[in-house]
Amino acid sequence: MKKASFKIRRKIILAFIFCFLSVLLFAIFSFESQREIGRRLRLVEVADDLVNNLLEVRRFEKNFFLYKQPASLHEALNHVDRVEALYLKHEPAIRNLSKDKKEPIFYQTLLCYKETLSELQASISKETRPIDKMDFSAPEESLRIIAQSLLDVAGTWAKEERDRIDHLFRRALYLFIAALAFFVVIGIAVAFYISRLFTAPLVRMQQAMEKIAQGDFTPIPEDQRHSEEFAPLFKAFNRMINELEERQEQLVQARKISAIGTFTSGIAHELNNPVNNIVLTAEALKEDFGSIEEQEALGMIQDIIIQSERASEIIRNLLDFSRSEKPEMISTSISSVIGDTLKLVRNQLLLSGVEQKVDLPADLPNVCGDYKSLQQVFLNLFINSIQAMPHGGNLIIKGAMADAGQSVRISITDTGEGIDPEDIHHIFDPFFTTKEVGKGTGLGLSVTYGILQKHGGTIEAHSQKGQGATFLVTLPTEK
Ligand SMILES: Nc1ncnc2c1ncn2[C@@H]1O[C@H](COP(=O)(O)OP(=O)(O)OP(=O)(O)O)[C@@H](O)[C@H]1O
Ligand SMILES: [Mg+2]
Repeated sequence: MKKASFKIRRKIILAFIFCFLSVLLFAIFSFESQREIGRRLRLVEVADDLVNNLLEVRRFEKNFFLYKQPASLHEALNHVDRVEALYLKHEPAIRNLSKDKKEPIFYQTLLCYKETLSELQASISKETRPIDKMDFSAPEESLRIIAQSLLDVAGTWAKEERDRIDHLFRRALYLFIAALAFFVVIGIAVAFYISRLFTAPLVRMQQAMEKIAQGDFTPIPEDQRHSEEFAPLFKAFNRMINELEERQEQLVQARKISAIGTFTSGIAHELNNPVNNIVLTAEALKEDFGSIEEQEALGMIQDIIIQSERASEIIRNLLDFSRSEKPEMISTSISSVIGDTLKLVRNQLLLSGVEQKVDLPADLPNVCGDYKSLQQVFLNLFINSIQAMPHGGNLIIKGAMADAGQSVRISITDTGEGIDPEDIHHIFDPFFTTKEVGKGTGLGLSVTYGILQKHGGTIEAHSQKGQGATFLVTLPTEK
């Protein structure tokens, strides 16, 4: 048992570890993705800064060529320095993230641009002519081309980074949707798995319990697939079912013995008559042995034989009834079961002054059942009725088809004391009795109920205090 519960715990822990690892994996992926997006965003900022500064450079450079003011050249150089500082500050990141490795060329181009600007500045300061008389068309063209290529590189770079960020965002979104779908599926699967782990065997046990309540003691099949964890529980449960079945058999047998005890006085009386007759006839034969006719003696001996056979039939009936045999479900005539049972209580009926009225149609279909068990059903009911009529009365037994020929219904009605309304719900409970101590065990109706359930039949009681009782027994007809 300990081992089994450990197995269940291990499975649940494994299922949850799996879920936890999946969540962790997803968290790591998203974290990495966010970090990457953050890095790229910072880089886009740098790229934008570069572009803006380069545009400034271009503006001052153009101003210089347009208005020929050395201050503009100076400003342009200042911005070039800023671009250089910016680049050098972020060089490793730029190199790492670059796709086409343009960055070294960018830097060299920047240096070349700076050099050209510085040379231009130097040539102006050396020149003696007024500045507006100087010709800048050659450096102007080369500076324009270099600045444009720098702007292109920085612009492309910013654009590429933006595209990459866009791509990363989309990837993160897909990852989120995929993870969501995955978690939903995994969650449902784990929930199903865990519920199957517990509920499937429990449902099977519940079904088995319901069957037991209906008198079916079939053990739960211990197949490996479902009940690995519950195998020891199922085994114990099946052991309990076997025990219950054995106990039920013992109870039925005990009831038989107790029933015999109940009608012992009747049996004694019934046996007493033939035995008395035998003794009296045998004594008469002995006394008159020499004097009587041979024919008369033979008649007396015949009498003794008949009386002996009667006594032996009574004993055979009793033995038959009390014998413990495995129930055998065969085609059984309810009429003959009732007839034989009435024989057993014949003397009880006589002693109590109860008159029997039997109305069983000859065409009543057979039922599938065990003869002895069914005999016990009716014996319990007859004895109860006789006990309810200590001063005589009527025992009316009627049989008819019911449920459109699907079952046979037997009603056993007596004119006895009847049952209290508050007792009627308990009469089928084991050990429920209203009889004084030593007179009743309270098992008769509970055993009757159990036997009928085993046969797929039912029993109902209808009674009003003081107005007798009717028991309705229904048994499915033989198929
Ligand atoms: N025909 C009946 N008329 C009136 N009461 C009845 C009748 N049949 C059963 N009962 C009531 O139902 C109770 C339970 O019956 P059940 O046969 O189970 O036990 P019991 O007769 O008391 O004892 P046991 O049958 O074990 O000797 C009885 O004690 C009695 O009060
Ligand atoms: Mg009884």
